[in-house]
Amino acid sequence: MADIPNCDLKSLSPLQLFEKVTEQGEKVRALKAGKAPKDEIDAAVRMLLSLKLSYKTTTGQDYQAGLPPKDHALINNGTTKEEDEDLVDPWNVQTSNAKGVDYDKLIVRFGSTKIDTDLINRIERATGQKPHRFLRRGIFFSHRDMDQILHAYENKKPFYLYTGRGPSSQAMHVGHLIPFLFTKWLQEAFDVPLVIQLTDDEKYLWKDMTTEKAYEYAKENARDIIACGFDVNKTFIFSDLDYLGSSTGFYKNIIKVQKHVTFNQVKGIFGFTDSDCIGKISFPAIQAAPSFSSSFPQIFNGKENIQCLIPCAIDQDPYFRMTRDVAPRIGYPKPALLHSVFFPALQGAQTKMSASDVNSSVFLNDTPKQIKTKINKHAFSGGRDTIEEHRKYGGNCDVDVSFMYLTFFLEDDDKLEQLKQAYTSGELLTGELKKVLIETLQPLIAAHQERRKQITDEVVKQFMTPRKLAFEF
Ligand code: TRP
Repeated sequence: MADIPNCDLKSLSPLQLFEKVTEQGEKVRALKAGKAPKDEIDAAVRMLLSLKLSYKTTTGQDYQAGLPPKDHALINNGTTKEEDEDLVDPWNVQTSNAKGVDYDKLIVRFGSTKIDTDLINRIERATGQKPHRFLRRGIFFSHRDMDQILHAYENKKPFYLYTGRGPSSQAMHVGHLIPFLFTKWLQEAFDVPLVIQLTDDEKYLWKDMTTEKAYEYAKENARDIIACGFDVNKTFIFSDLDYLGSSTGFYKNIIKVQKHVTFNQVKGIFGFTDSDCIGKISFPAIQAAPSFSSSFPQIFNGKENIQCLIPCAIDQDPYFRMTRDVAPRIGYPKPALLHSVFFPALQGAQTKMSASDVNSSVFLNDTPKQIKTKINKHAFSGGRDTIEEHRKYGGNCDVDVSFMYLTFFLEDDDKLEQLKQAYTSGELLTGELKKVLIETLQPLIAAHQERRKQITDEVVKQFMTPRKLAFEF
């Protein structure tokens, strides 16, 4: 958009003004994503603010992204973001709210559907299993087409699970377990095949890392994933660097996707710019391909139309919005999705954890002592400054990271509720709450380490060998 002098703004209609504000918001976002010079960004932000002011003066309303004035409907595809909104994409998660990202707003922006009690009850009826605590507690909170999967399942039609991990470092933290623990539950509840993609190629492209290192991390991470308890007869784990070149189906699907998605589209979805390497620009096709059963002819006997269900953290949704958009155009079913919230950093829920900061999280290779020290020292507390104040006013579970971690890992619903009440009333102190968390995580991690130790190179190789699984297609 050419910069319009302010005096001209008065002549614009509310809708034109709305479009100007939206456009300018996108421009600010693009400048930031492209790491433009600070003064350029500042100028663009000033322009944005002045446009918003004009909008308010003209319409008498505050500008709201995706909400045009009066009855002009506008479809927000979830790729634009306002200044005060949470930033969520595959590489960044940022919010100014200590409670974390506003997930209800994200559902609206991304156009997905909330997982409600009806859906959870239907999953329970279909599988005959008590819903996993991640469902009971809204940790998997959003979906796309899960009703279709259930319909298929209720009618004895097969589907398969697909999830993945970018092996950015040797050590994984407890947050990385979330999608895998849930996927394992789904695999058992529905008894279906599972493919797990390790995107070592992605990490090579995005990080300062050799292909050898990325592949080594992929195999190390595979051990932690296997230690979650997956069934070797029902699970195929693959490294992109390894499997892509040897599969007869996978590469065909990559180029099918590549042929049907333009540079403009991925720019819009992922914020790529002209100076990003072409490896990054074409990578989304590689993450899309496992959503199609013909990428695994050895498992699905060459069948092309087996439906796929992808459990993942919500930041991966852009990849699958693209995948779902392209699927019908290349003759495949759209993958369904189950989205999880982010696992907060010990320092607070404003951002997700990072594997590169050892104090930001509890790692799967931490010792009991490290777990204790980290939580006591770094877990952000929603408690009061003094014991007297805490007793009087109580703690705030909404921002307390130890409490948040317990919602992820403490299985007992009643105990969790008791802790919440006691903490909120001031009866339970931060130190005591942290102690409960430490005592929950220590045995959990010790057990994980014990299982991981049992996993030999031979077992890893079995999981990673392309083969038929224990299902007939
Ligand atoms: N891009 C993901 C990451 O960096 C890895 C990934 C690949 C993935 N395929 C996936 C995650 C499917 C969830 C579902 O972690």
